[in-house]
Amino acid sequence: MKVTLSIIKADIGSIGGHIKPSQKVVEAVESHVKKFGKTLFIDSFIEYTGDDIAILLTHKRGAGNKEIHKLCWDALYSGADVAKKQGLYGAGQDLLVDAFSGNIKGMGPQVAEIEMEERGAESFLMFCADKTEPGAFNLPLYLGFCDPMHNAGLLLSPAVKKGYKFVIMDVEHTIKDKVIELHSPEEIYDIAVLLRDNGKYIVESVWSRASGEQVVAASTTRLHNIAGKYVGKDDPVMLVRTQKDFPATGEILSPYTIGHYVAGFMRGSHNGPLMPVKKNSTISYFDGPPIVSCMAFCVQNGKLTEPADAFDHPYWDYVRNNVSQKAEWIRRQGFSGPGMLPMSELEYTGVTDTLKILEKRFTVREK
Ligand code: 13P
Ligand code: 13P
Ligand code: MG
Ligand code: MG
Repeated sequence: MKVTLSIIKADIGSIGGHIKPSQKVVEAVESHVKKFGKTLFIDSFIEYTGDDIAILLTHKRGAGNKEIHKLCWDALYSGADVAKKQGLYGAGQDLLVDAFSGNIKGMGPQVAEIEMEERGAESFLMFCADKTEPGAFNLPLYLGFCDPMHNAGLLLSPAVKKGYKFVIMDVEHTIKDKVIELHSPEEIYDIAVLLRDNGKYIVESVWSRASGEQVVAASTTRLHNIAGKYVGKDDPVMLVRTQKDFPATGEILSPYTIGHYVAGFMRGSHNGPLMPVKKNSTISYFDGPPIVSCMAFCVQNGKLTEPADAFDHPYWDYVRNNVSQKAEWIRRQGFSGPGMLPMSELEYTGVTDTLKILEKRFTVREK
C-alpha cells in the first residue's frame, strides 16, 4: 500500500524562555489534529523536542498535500493562540505569515515527507532537533550512508553496498530550489566537499541505488533565507527508513555518538555539540546544548506502532555525559573564534551595530 509520512514541526511558544511548550499548548495542537483531521489521515503522533512541537501524520494524500499542510498549520495556529493567552515566550514564533497559502514549506515550520510503497515490515525513524539548523544532519547522514566505520552493511549487505543517491540543496539560493544529485560510493569526496558547509548545502533526500526507493527526507528550510533576516533557528526534522536495502537503525544512530559541533547554541549564535536526547526533553544550559531526539516506529497500512525511544538507553547516558563535557570545552572559550558563529550567521544585530560605531573611531597610521 502507498503511504505518506509527514512530519511538520514548529516553535509556537514556550515556558521560561525557550525550554519547552506548555502542556496546554501541546494538548491544543493534539486536539485540533484529532478533531479536524479524522477524515484526512490514518494515524498521528505528537511530541516536543525542546521548545518545538512535532506532528507526525500517516496518510494516502502524497507529499505536499494542501489539506494535510493546512490541518497542521491550523493546529499549530490554535496552539499559538493558547501560548499567547498563557503568556508563553515567543508565542507563534515560527508561524511567519498570517494566512495559509497552499504549502506549509516556506511559511516557517519545518517539513519532511516521504511517499512510499510500504514494505512488509516498514521501520522508520523520526528525528527532531532543537537549537540547531538543518545542516546538523549532514555529517550523521554522510557517516551513516557512506562510511563502513558506522555502516557495517556497506561491507556485509550487497544491496547496501550498491550505494545511495544524495540530493543536496544549496539553501542560499532562495528564489527556486537549487539541487544537485551525487552518488555514493564513487562521489563520496564530492559529497563531503558540499556537506562540510552546514549553513549552505543541506541533504534534502537520500535514495537507494539497489531499489530506487527514497530512504531519507530531511527539512531544508532556513528561516533567515526566507525572511531576509534572522527570526530564530531552523530546528530541523528528518525521516529515515531503515533495514533490508537501507542502513540498519543502529547504523543510522551510530554517528550520534560523536556529538559533533553544530550551529544554534545560545541565541542561535554559537556552536555547541549535538546531544542525543529522550522524547519530550527540555533545554537548559546556555539555552542548549543543541539536542536531537529519535522515535523509531513500524507502520502497516498506515497504522503506527507506539514509538520506541531510540536514545533512551544506558549507552546514550554515557554519550550525553561526553557531550556535556564537549559543551563545557567550547563554552570555556566564550565568544572567541569557533565559540561564536561568523557574522553572516548571527541572530542579532548587536555585533554589526557596534562595528559600525567603532569603525568611525579607527584611525589609519602612516607606515
Ligand atoms: P530575546 O532577545 O527575545 O530575549 O531572546 C533571547 C533568546 O532567548 C535567544 O533567542
Ligand atoms: P529557538 O529557535 O529554539 O526558539 O531558540 C532560540 C534561541 O536562540 C535561544 O537562545
Ligand atoms: Mg523558541
Ligand atoms: Mg526551537
